[in-house]
Amino acid sequence: MGEKWVWMKTAQTPTNIAVIKYWGKRDESLILPINDSISVTLDPAHLCTTTTVAVSPAFQQDRMWLNGKEISLSGGRYQNCLREIRRRATEVEDKEKGIKIEKKDWEKLRLHIASYNNFPTAAGLASSAAGFACLVFALAKLMNVKEDESQLSAIARQGSGSACRSLFGGFVKWIMGKEEDGSDSLAVQLVDEKHWDDLFIVIAVVSSRQKETSSTSGMRESVETSLLLQHRAKEVVPKRTLQMEETIKNRDFASFAQLTCADSNQFHAVCLDTCPPIFYMNDTSHRLISYVEKWNRSEGSPQVAYTFDAGPNAVLIARNRKAAAQLLQRLLFYFPPKSDIDLDSYVIGDKSILEDAGIEGVKDVEALLPPPEIKEHAPAQKYPGDISYFICTKPGRGPVLLSQENQALLDPDTGLPK
Ligand code: DP6
Repeated sequence: MGEKWVWMKTAQTPTNIAVIKYWGKRDESLILPINDSISVTLDPAHLCTTTTVAVSPAFQQDRMWLNGKEISLSGGRYQNCLREIRRRATEVEDKEKGIKIEKKDWEKLRLHIASYNNFPTAAGLASSAAGFACLVFALAKLMNVKEDESQLSAIARQGSGSACRSLFGGFVKWIMGKEEDGSDSLAVQLVDEKHWDDLFIVIAVVSSRQKETSSTSGMRESVETSLLLQHRAKEVVPKRTLQMEETIKNRDFASFAQLTCADSNQFHAVCLDTCPPIFYMNDTSHRLISYVEKWNRSEGSPQVAYTFDAGPNAVLIARNRKAAAQLLQRLLFYFPPKSDIDLDSYVIGDKSILEDAGIEGVKDVEALLPPPEIKEHAPAQKYPGDISYFICTKPGRGPVLLSQENQALLDPDTGLPK
C-alpha cells in the first residue's frame, strides 16, 4: 500500500438530556451503570457534533482535532472505542477511486479524526455524549461495520455512558444489562422524534464561574458514599423507568413532568448525600425551579418540566409551543439580558418562538410585564446577567451521514483539518 489516497466519512450526531438519570457505575472501565436511564434527543440543528474520520496509507499515527485543536487519543476511553470498532471493521472497496481495504488492513491503517461542536463545549451541555456517539457512528460507516445502532451504542458507551443514548432520535432507553462483559448494556429507541412533536425545549445556560466536579468522579464518590443512591438504583428507578415509558407512549405530559422533575431532584439529592457533598445547581438553578413550580401550580396542570445534569443549566421541556412562548416571557422577565447584550444573541436556536411570545423585535426587555402568578407579591426581583443565554429547540433525530464534501472537516487530499 504505497498509495496516497484518503478515504473519509463525515457524520452528525445529536446530544441528549436524561429524564431518568444515569448516575453510578458498577464497572468503571467498561462503563456499566447501576440503573437504566431514559433520555430525549435534542434537535441537532441547534446542538450537535460533526465528526470527519479519514484513513490513508500515508497517515503515520492516529490523530484527533477537537474544535480545531489537536488532542491526545491516548486515554483509555478513546482507545477502547477505537479498538472495539476496528475489531468489527470489514472490507471496503471504491473502484472509482481505486481504493481497496481488506478487513485485516484496518489493524495497521492509521486514522485522522476532526470533531466540531455547534455549541460551546464549556457550556456544560453534554458535549461528550454527542462527541463519542459521533466518533463511533462515523468510524462504523468508514470501516463498513455491519452492526445496528444498538450494537454501536454499546461501543459509544465505553467512551462516555450517556453517549450510548445519542445513537437514536426521539426518546431513548439505556438498558443497564446484566452481563459482566457489558454486551447487553446498550441503548434502544422507545419512540422516534415524530411521536411527541408538540414538545418544545428551552435550555437556560446559567452563568457560572465555578469549576464543577466531573460526572465521572462525582458518580464514583456517590457510589462509594451515598446510601440514597443505593436505594434509588434498587427501589426507585426500576419502577420509575416503567412509568416513564408508559407516559411517553401515551404522551401524558402531566405524568411526564412529574416524573422528570422528581428524577432530576432525586439525582441532585444524591449529590447532596455524597460525602463530601456535591453542589451542581446554584441559586439561579433553584430560582428557575421555584418559578416553574409556581407557574405550574397556578395553571392547575404542569406546563413545563425541568431537569438539570451535572451543572447549573436548566433544560425546560414545555408541553407545546404555546407553553414554551409563555415560559420564555416569564424567563425574560426574571432574567433579562445585561444592557449590552441584544435579544438576538440572548435567545438562540429556534427563534421563531419569540414571535409566538410577542417579544420578537422588542427593544426593551426590561419593560416586560410580570407574569400574573406573582403580581400579588410584587415588586418581583429581577436577575439580569444570571443567565448567559437561552437555546430554543425541540426533540430531534439521531445520527446521519453528511455526504457533501464541503461538509467535511478534513481536507480530502491531505487528511488534515481544513
Ligand atoms: C448527570 O455520561 O458524562 O448527565 O459515563 O463517566 O462519561 P461518564 O459520565 P457521563 O454522565 C452523565 C450523567 C448525567 C445524567 C445522564 O446523562 O443520564
